[in-house]
Amino acid sequence: MSLYKKLGFVNTREMFKKAMEGGYAIPAYNFNNMEQLQSIIFGCLESGSPLILQVSKGARDYANQILLRYMAEGAMAIVNSHKHPVPVALHLDHGDSYELCVSCIESGFSSVMIDGSHLPFEENIALTKKVVDYAHNHDVTVEGELGVLAGIEEHVKSEKSHYTDPDDVEEFVGKTGVDSLAISIGTSHGAYKFKLKPGEKIPDLRFDILDEIEKRIPGFPIVLHGSSSVLPEYVKIINENGGKMEGAVGIPEEQLRKAAKSAVCKINIDSDGRLVMTAIVRRELKNNPGNFDPRKFLGPAREELKKMIMRKNKDVLGSAERV
Ligand code: G3H
Ligand code: 13P
Ligand code: ZN
Repeated sequence: MSLYKKLGFVNTREMFKKAMEGGYAIPAYNFNNMEQLQSIIFGCLESGSPLILQVSKGARDYANQILLRYMAEGAMAIVNSHKHPVPVALHLDHGDSYELCVSCIESGFSSVMIDGSHLPFEENIALTKKVVDYAHNHDVTVEGELGVLAGIEEHVKSEKSHYTDPDDVEEFVGKTGVDSLAISIGTSHGAYKFKLKPGEKIPDLRFDILDEIEKRIPGFPIVLHGSSSVLPEYVKIINENGGKMEGAVGIPEEQLRKAAKSAVCKINIDSDGRLVMTAIVRRELKNNPGNFDPRKFLGPAREELKKMIMRKNKDVLGSAERV
């Protein structure tokens, strides 16, 4: 039996099927420390939401891959002892090599992303297929990517988005056998998603491209990366408490809600969690200059992040109360 099954994780197949039928998206939250993990787990348990727990290569390096795996395993033990457990997939975010994907699968991941989006089309297909062949042997699901998001993807900095070409998707999905496809329709990673001139409004996501993709691969699970909304309330707290994040802007939540009702089955959120943590830690440290107990500033940050996750599950992803 695959290790992830012994640990209690699930792959994404059933989650995506239900999300597609129910018109909602599964939240994929990144974590790299204990407080983020607690907020994500308890936020999803308390809102009755299925969850994709995401670990990037950077998170694995930061937290130590062994420790991170045991943290996820511990979180799963909490989920399974809860009176209303929720399904959880442990997912590698932006895997950049076959070897990394194999290493994650061997250590208990139930889902991996192989991000070959920066490669020429045929090379992306070859790399993705190689990962799919290995992963499917272990009943692990695979996310591939076509199109490049603006910002930094896999250490490739792109000034502009290269939207996914709908003409490519059918061939890519058919030849690789991937279980889900990340696409580029105007989202981007980080907290500065658009450079807006004064008075300019945030451009809409390219729902026309999404519609066309859905026509080419009907019922196939689509993934949106770079989907933080960069909530102004937290940017304000950061700026009022010694931070400097002028011009930070994200994807409006109504647009994500609209996307979640379509074939978009997975929405990736990392920056919003980082912003909440930073905002509350900054505020607590400023308000309590004599405190030197990390629990006194990390605790409130953890609580606020849990609240944000519960609200997003309910109002943005639509994934609350779905189990
Ligand atoms: O898309 C990237 C995620 O936000 C993870 O970022 O590589 O800094 O951990 P990271
Ligand atoms: P954000 O930076 O918008 O949170 O995107 C996160 C992401 O796509 C993780 O893969
Ligand atoms: Zn991403």
